[in-house]
Amino acid sequence: MSYTINVNGRQQVADVEGDTPLLWVLRETLGMTGTKFGCGIAQCGACTVHLDGNPVRSCVLPIAAVGARQVTTIEAVNATDSGRRIQAAWLGVDVVQCGYCQSGQIMSAAALLARNPAPSDADIDAAMSGNLCRCATYIRIRAAIKQAATGKIEVTQALPHDAAGGGQ
Ligand code: FES
Ligand code: FES
Repeated sequence: MSYTINVNGRQQVADVEGDTPLLWVLRETLGMTGTKFGCGIAQCGACTVHLDGNPVRSCVLPIAAVGARQVTTIEAVNATDSGRRIQAAWLGVDVVQCGYCQSGQIMSAAALLARNPAPSDADIDAAMSGNLCRCATYIRIRAAIKQAATGKIEVTQALPHDAAGGGQ
């Protein structure tokens, strides 16, 4: 069956079964590989995209359920002010280690900042708890979200990768 969905502001057509997860439509039908596959069962957050601005796990979202809602992926996260600030802070703090989980982390963080411009530690923990990172970049993720929230983006070496327990 043919489905037309709006991805990053463009109408895209996918000729797939209705139960095909959005993740595979993005990656395989549309060739947008920025969104990652981790677990396939909504447990890791690697596949996070926005649906009308809300973070969702695209690995368990059938394309038939998308409807007219706007899909935003990591490729267009910088189209919003909150997304731009999150990206800049990610670079400033040098969050990324292997990088595999980071598309999902950034999408969850950008959605958090859009709905809560000044998140507390508890807010960050609640919003980010479903995004796992095997490299344990959690300390730097929290620092980057705080920098993005304050607007004070600083390039820093204050959180070396070893301090975040990375390298696993
Ligand atoms: S791949 Fe979707 S939550 Fe893990
Ligand atoms: S940076 Fe998160 S899994 Fe490697």
